[in-house]
Amino acid sequence: MKIVKTVQEVRDIVKEWRKEGCSVGFVPTMGYLHEGHGSLIEYSVKGNDKTVVSIFVNPIQFGPNEDLASYPRDLQADAALCERLGADLIFHPEPEEMYLDGFCSFTDITGLSDALCGLSRPIHFRGVCTVVNKLFNIVQPDRAYFGQKDAQQAAIVKQFVRDLNIPVEIVRCPIVREEDGLAKSSRNTYLSPEERKAAVILSKAIFLGEKMVREGEKDAKKVVDAMLACLALEPMANVEYVKAVHGLTMKDVDKLEAPALVAMAVRIGTTRLIDNFVVE
Ligand code: PAJ
Repeated sequence: MKIVKTVQEVRDIVKEWRKEGCSVGFVPTMGYLHEGHGSLIEYSVKGNDKTVVSIFVNPIQFGPNEDLASYPRDLQADAALCERLGADLIFHPEPEEMYLDGFCSFTDITGLSDALCGLSRPIHFRGVCTVVNKLFNIVQPDRAYFGQKDAQQAAIVKQFVRDLNIPVEIVRCPIVREEDGLAKSSRNTYLSPEERKAAVILSKAIFLGEKMVREGEKDAKKVVDAMLACLALEPMANVEYVKAVHGLTMKDVDKLEAPALVAMAVRIGTTRLIDNFVVE
């Protein structure tokens, strides 16, 4: 497995693979990899001849008061995991390689980015769309793998790939959780031991909502209210939103029918965590 830092090196390597007739899978990440990222790499390795993983903490998707400077990084451990799972190439550019002096072109999306996390993170999805579009142009993969953990991000990427005729198949992969239910996230490392215990309330509320839907409840308000009541049991939890939306448009829904999405963002201390479930 190789680690490269420049766009040109990625292009040269992928060109050689293409000459050999290889298919290429791509897993974009911001690093500090855990088993959630690992599962995406596994799907890509299974589904393609070659797998590229990008590790890039993308500055333009962080707001001014967000955690860009403190975002955890550990390239050595990341490389070991990628190697073990059978990835072929890591692209680990410096910000200056991705954003040349005078950079001023963005990929943006309307509607879908104005709901849920977009409300408290107004520039976030423009940053995500721009970097993902750039990475797709650099790697030119056949397939790209995204986690359902970031359901709104996955829906947005699917939409802009469709709208802009980008020839990449978007594959969505299920949420990987800790043993107690907490969705794995690089940001879980911010939690103190006490906060980590409190954070399990998110998945408790998700599992409760999921169970209500499984048992036939279709009223979105009833399910959301029950989840909010569950979250209220944890004094350290500060709810940003719990919402039932259409899984493709992110518009509010009253009835929980496929493809609805029930999503939440909750702060535990200063750490903002997200979780969701899909109505099948
Ligand atoms: P990052 O947060 O590193 O996540 C990279 C990918 O891993 C995303 O598709 C995310 O949904 C997936 N992922 C994270 N935790 C997961 C879990 N517990 N189970 C399954 N998948 C999980 O998302 C980003 O980076 C960035 O916004 C990026 C797309 C790389 C653009 O900068």
